[in-house]
Parts: sequence; structure tokens; C-alpha cells
Amino acid sequence: MAKLWGGRFRKSTDKKVDDFNSSIRFDKRMYKQDIKGSIAHATMLGKQGIIPKSDAELIVSELNNILVDIEEGRVEFLIDAEDIHMNIEKILIDRIGDAGKRLHTGRSRNDQVALDIRMYLMDETAEIEEMLVETMSTFTELAKQHVDTIMPGYTHLQKAQPVTFAHHCMAYFEMFKRDYSRLVECRRRTNIMPLGSGALAGTTYPLDRKFVADMLGFDGVTMNSLDGVSDRDFVIELAGCISIIMMHASRFSEELILWSSGEFSFVEMDDAYSTGSSIMPQKKNPDVAELIRGKTGRVYGNLMGLLTMMKGIPLAYNKDMQEDKEQIFDSIDTVKLCLPVFCDMIRTMKINTGNMYNGAKGGFTNATDAADYLVKKGLPFRDAHKVIGNMVFYCIEHDKAIVDLTMEEMKSFSDIIDEDIYDAISLETCVDDRKVTGGPAKRETLKAIRKAEAFIESI
Ligand code: ARG
Repeated sequence: MAKLWGGRFRKSTDKKVDDFNSSIRFDKRMYKQDIKGSIAHATMLGKQGIIPKSDAELIVSELNNILVDIEEGRVEFLIDAEDIHMNIEKILIDRIGDAGKRLHTGRSRNDQVALDIRMYLMDETAEIEEMLVETMSTFTELAKQHVDTIMPGYTHLQKAQPVTFAHHCMAYFEMFKRDYSRLVECRRRTNIMPLGSGALAGTTYPLDRKFVADMLGFDGVTMNSLDGVSDRDFVIELAGCISIIMMHASRFSEELILWSSGEFSFVEMDDAYSTGSSIMPQKKNPDVAELIRGKTGRVYGNLMGLLTMMKGIPLAYNKDMQEDKEQIFDSIDTVKLCLPVFCDMIRTMKINTGNMYNGAKGGFTNATDAADYLVKKGLPFRDAHKVIGNMVFYCIEHDKAIVDLTMEEMKSFSDIIDEDIYDAISLETCVDDRKVTGGPAKRETLKAIRKAEAFIESI
């Protein structure tokens, strides 16, 4: 097939090079953005008198036909037409001849691809944002049901202090809320129109860049032609945002995997969200959570791939940059695949509140509160810490919890201890006295849930 750029060549491209060079296999997914961009460019060329108005109108109406034909599966893309940009331009020229040949006036594929990828990523980002709203609601709903569900909180995966399952869920709400605002910010930075940058040095034609930006709904135009065609920060930033989302989903998945083990038994995955073993009849495995944890790896890989691909590229466009697409598309596909199953898995799992409560009873999760009890009776905190440390050592030796000690045993550690210690260090008091803003007390959790709901409502 004759190349659109074939004039200065005397030999056709080697078949292997056609395959190697071509990106149509993966960039065809930007067909809609490419056509929308070309429609705006052609309209502007006509308005500015750069091409005849009648040609511009013909281009626009035929591009609309091509869009319908692609959507209805009537278009076959060609490997040797290289990429989505030249495939569509070639179809246009085949259909309307000379008018079609005028479309690429004052434009390069370099600014065209920069435009298309920005538009494509903004559309996808908006979809991921919606999925994050769903994720935030999932955690808020679950939290609402578990404001009284006491469970052990951990540091170093050792039992530390009691919290509630609602508090734990609301921690994830906060993470996904930050992820959401990161995406909004990232989308805002992507929302700048690069057409007019040309191949690298702008163009001599009197383009109306602002008109194109307005027609496509961009916030503004890029301010430097070299940067306009060679910036892929927004791709890397989105890959970073998605990596952080996946990191958060992976952390909770890891917790669910642990919690559904026989050793914890804090949760049980719904049958519809787990799988069995081909050999061990008793098995019920948390595969969904494991796959989310596993897929996080490839998303990080894409981020690293993009950063490494860009790091040595001299200004302006270089073909290396065609490699941005498969990686960012894979990150987008992966996060869009994961978030809905992540939410459904969470919504359908069973919470074993009794096991969570029993878990919080062990491991001296109320030791800090026992020390605080002594502080309230006048002992300096460091001394109180030591007294309770000795008490814990004694308990471990005698296989008891602090609340199992008799008053005599208690008093042998400090004579300021009274009967009221038992109430002061009950799990319920431990949780409910943590009324500090952001703490696990019911009052604070309910406040956090109300704020979360208002935030979701405001989106
Ligand atoms: N398919 C190319 C890409 O994705 C489009 C730009 C090609 N420009 C060029 N000068 N070869 O980057």
C-alpha cells in the first residue's frame, strides 16, 4: 500500500517493519477522539479560510460517517496504514479525494496523537472516578453497619489496641477519597489542548487554537510547541494515580486474605466470590482478593516502564513515545477490571463479628488503657507504662488477660488500683473513650460517616 508519506521514498517498507512500526493494533481504541479532533481541526481550517469552507464541510460530514461505520463494525483497519491517525485519514481520502487531502494542513501526527491521548485519558479518568465513588460508598455503607463491631487494631501485625470494623473501613474511605481527588487534579492538568504545536515548531498557518480548544471542551491551550508534542507527564501521572489506587485495593485485599484464613476467621467470602481447589475438597480460596493483589504488580510495572521510556528522550517527539499507549491502556483496563469486583466482593462477604471481638480480647489490647487508668490516678505516664508492663509479663506467665486478675493481684503491682479498673479497661470503654477527632469512638465514627456521605453526595 502506498504510504501517505511515501513521496521521498523509492522502496516500499519491509513487511516486518510495517508490523514492527504499526500501532493500529492498540491505538485503534482512540478512533472516537481522533475523529472528534479532526472534526474540530477541519472546522477551524474552514472558518479561518485556510481550506475552502465547502471542503471543511465535506470532511466533517464524511468523518461523521466514518465514525458510524467504525462503531457498526464496517471498517477494517490496516497494519500498513500504521496507526489510527493515518488509517482514518486514508479512509477519508479514499472516500472524498482532494478535500480529504486538505485535512492535515497545519497539523502533524505529533500534535494529533498528543491531542488524542489527552482526550482518551480524560474520558477514561472520568470513568475511574465514578468507580471510586462506588468504592467510597461501599466502605461507608459497610462502616455504617459496624460502628459497634469491635476488632483488634494491629501494628507490626501484632495486636495493638481495639478499634471497630467501621473505623477500619473508614480508613479505606479516606484513602480512596484522596485517590479520587488525585484523579480530578490529574484530569485538570491533562485538559490542555496541544493542536497547533505541529511537528515541533508550531505552524505558519493562522490557526485559531482557542476555537479548537473550546470546540473540544478543553480548558486552555499548551504554551510551548516543543512541550506540546513531547509532554507525556499526564500519562505518567495517571499511571501513578492508578498505581496508588491499586496499592490501596491490594492492601485491603491482603487483609481480607489474612482475615479469611482459619487462623483469623474474621470474614468469610461469599461463595460467589471465592473458588475451590481441583484436588482439596475442603478448600475455599479468596482468589478475587489475591488477583487484585497480584494485578497491582503489572500496574506498577507500567508506571516504571513509562518513566524509563521517557527518561532519555531528547526534545521533541521520538517514536519511543508510541510505547506509552499499551502501558497506560493496560493500567486503565486493570483498574477498571478490579474496582467493580473489589466492591462486590466487599459487599457480599460475611463479617464474623464474634471472632473479631474475641480477637480484640487477646493480646493485651487494653494495656495502654490500663496505663492511662493509672495516669488518671496521678501516676506519671512512664511509671504507669512500667507498672503495666510488669503486669503483662505476669499475665503471660500465668496465661491470663489483665481483666482476669483479682484485685489482690492487681494491687500487688500498684496500690492505687481500685475496682473501677475493670470498667476502665473493658474493650467497649477502650474504644469509646477514644473520642479524639479521627478516633474510633462511636460518636466520632458516626461524624466521619456523615461527612463521607455528604462528600459523596456533593460529587
Ligand atoms: N503512532 C504514533 C504514536 O503513537 C503517532 C505519531 C507518529 N509521529 C511520527 N512522527 N512518526 O506516537
